[in-house]
Amino acid sequence: MDFFATAAKGTEPAIRDELRELRFRGVRADRGGVHFVGPMEEGFRACFELRCAQRVLAELGSFDAPNEDALYEGVGGIDWTRFLDPSRTLAVRAACRSSALTHIQFIAQKTKDAVVDQLRRHHGARPSVDREDPDVLIFVHLVRDRATVYADLGGASLHRRGFRSAAGQAPLKETLAAALLRLSGWDRERPLIDPMCGAGTIAIEGALWARNIAPGLLAAEDDAARQFGFERWGCHDEAAAKYMVELREAARARVRAEGPPVLASDIDAFVVALARGNAEVAGVQIDTRKAKVEDLQPSTPPGHVLVNPPYGERLVGGQALYREMARVFRRLRGHRVAILSGTPGIEYAMAQRLPEPPVPEPRSLSVWNGAIECRLLTYDIP
Ligand SMILES: C[S@@+](CC[C@H](N)C(=O)[O-])C[C@H]1O[C@@H](n2cnc3c(N)ncnc32)[C@H](O)[C@@H]1O
Repeated sequence: MDFFATAAKGTEPAIRDELRELRFRGVRADRGGVHFVGPMEEGFRACFELRCAQRVLAELGSFDAPNEDALYEGVGGIDWTRFLDPSRTLAVRAACRSSALTHIQFIAQKTKDAVVDQLRRHHGARPSVDREDPDVLIFVHLVRDRATVYADLGGASLHRRGFRSAAGQAPLKETLAAALLRLSGWDRERPLIDPMCGAGTIAIEGALWARNIAPGLLAAEDDAARQFGFERWGCHDEAAAKYMVELREAARARVRAEGPPVLASDIDAFVVALARGNAEVAGVQIDTRKAKVEDLQPSTPPGHVLVNPPYGERLVGGQALYREMARVFRRLRGHRVAILSGTPGIEYAMAQRLPEPPVPEPRSLSVWNGAIECRLLTYDIP
């Protein structure tokens, strides 16, 4: 089968590297995600093991769809009885570009009609639509009049790991935090430090990765059989369920007992308490404290700082804070400092001429945090 692991824009290389490390086959980065191939079980494994992907989609069919009839016919040519019956629910999401059909609601509606009509013919009854929590979530992408139809294996966005019951303002998605850890080159050995931790997403993702705790192990263990979307599909039989049990057991056996120190601090005592609670739910040890970034001290051995300061539309930072951050970060000799910045203010402050030795040019990557284009600036402090 052909699979597509979807990415926050700019994080495709992180998912590509992750898929390669996890020994998936046919890995090829593309705009918005990474392709890979394999039997259906590889799709299950991807949902279970990938930290950086938002969704894992299984391609069910691809055909020309220059008009609504061709779309209806093409979708109807896919065997939906494998996934759905009248007792299950579905939802369809559509996206299109450079095509004759332009209304995504209409494309979704037509796709849904083709699916339910086929099932009505087969069973004499049709499944119903559940937009909030469908058993089968279908995506249809129309690009230059060619439709590709996918089933979403996870069923919901994979960033919902289950550990973050509460978040502060402007939390990062867990999948993005995991991608930033990779893109900033954390070696999982140096101490990890997030001095503006909010709900602790970066620190917790880092601790999970360092201890090799697969994301699939995090969901409520007592409800494991309903964990991913594909576990609610009609074709999820005993053999597939057994495969999932084996996957869980193998993943548990690979968990490391300890990881490097992880420090999460924030000026706001309320969010520090959230971070502490979230780490507990995730089952990882992180050192949480209420502290200002202005008071951050170097660690021994030198650490890896990854920080998502307040910026732009969601939180107002201010030049004074950026100057203070730059002053502190420039003193962290031997550390790597990676900043997800939604404003040039921090980059300017880091580049300022100060009495300290100059900071070399950062490695700068464009990464999207939701609708906001940010830069991931990575500095090796001399
Ligand atoms: C964008 S949020 C971080 C969100 C976090 N990455 C998450 O996923 O939850 C920025 C954080 O910086 C904190 N902050 C603002 N000024 C600070 C300062 N001077 N020192 C430390 N933390 C500060 C805020 O309390 C807020 O939690």
